[in-house]
Amino acid sequence: MSRFDGRVALVTGAGSGIGAACATRLAAEGACVGVLDVHAAGAKTVATAIRAHGGTAVALTCDVSEEKQVETAIGELLASFGRLDVVHSNAAALGRGTYGRDQDLESLDVAVWDRTMAVNLRGALLMVKHGAPVMADGGAFVITSSVSGMTGDVAHVAYGTSKAALTGFVRFVATRYGSRGIRCNGVAPALVLTEAAERALGPERLADKAAERLLPWACTPEDVAGLVTFLASDEARCITGQTVVIDSGTLAHRPEHALRQWRQDSE
Ligand SMILES: NC(=O)c1ccc[n+]([C@@H]2O[C@H](COP(=O)([O-])OP(=O)(O)OC[C@H]3O[C@@H](n4cnc5c(N)ncnc54)[C@H](O)[C@@H]3O)[C@@H](O)[C@H]2O)c1
Repeated sequence: MSRFDGRVALVTGAGSGIGAACATRLAAEGACVGVLDVHAAGAKTVATAIRAHGGTAVALTCDVSEEKQVETAIGELLASFGRLDVVHSNAAALGRGTYGRDQDLESLDVAVWDRTMAVNLRGALLMVKHGAPVMADGGAFVITSSVSGMTGDVAHVAYGTSKAALTGFVRFVATRYGSRGIRCNGVAPALVLTEAAERALGPERLADKAAERLLPWACTPEDVAGLVTFLASDEARCITGQTVVIDSGTLAHRPEHALRQWRQDSE
């Protein structure tokens, strides 16, 4: 008996990276999965791969910031599988036009701020607003946040602020739906080695990131999928309202530690 046998899960931003790994893992553990992404081709590829491995999945094309599209996508999922048990709200605006232009605060185009908030924050709200009423009692929401919401930085103020807000949002959802046995938790990764992240950072910045963490390895999308599926499963039945950091020890120490270690290693 697998942990998600007979259950239905919806994963947003599932056409690539972390979302694709989470959808794949949920399906491997028995869930019927809605693979939702704004890019139809990505969602289709992931759903097809899941089915090729014997799982059950349907591709859903939807911009999570658009309320009508969210309602339609959830309707399509219910039409396919008849119930909803797990929602992993994971989509974020990470393109060149949003994250890429989310640089210094003083020159920030408010359109970048607004689009970032619309996808990262309103998208999560809409998933809960339309997902919770049709979710089975005892279901679970998992929301992808980031360590960027837990520290300051000289860039990415819109992205980091949206992720910080999600930590509060997780608590509001946990509070609103606790009496139905519906839980809500967040996962906050530091660098996750997705294809897009590796390409965007390049070797030099990847080396900087390596110097920041305590463990010799960075997280993979599959590591995050392990945490997401745990939080979505009955094994986490007493955990709600929490945002769990998964960062190979990036935030657990003082910056001086990383600096000292780096000096020692380079002697
Ligand atoms: N990769 C990392 O290092 C890292 C670190 C911390 C947090 N995160 C978070 O993990 C999540 C997934 O990121 P990833 O690294 O897998 O990136 P990714 O770019 O591989 O995946 C993001 C997916 O979201 C989709 N998407 C974007 N806007 C959307 C919208 N409006 N509606 C529906 N789908 C949309 C994209 O098409 C893409 O498939 C994000 O919430 C991100 O903030 C990533």
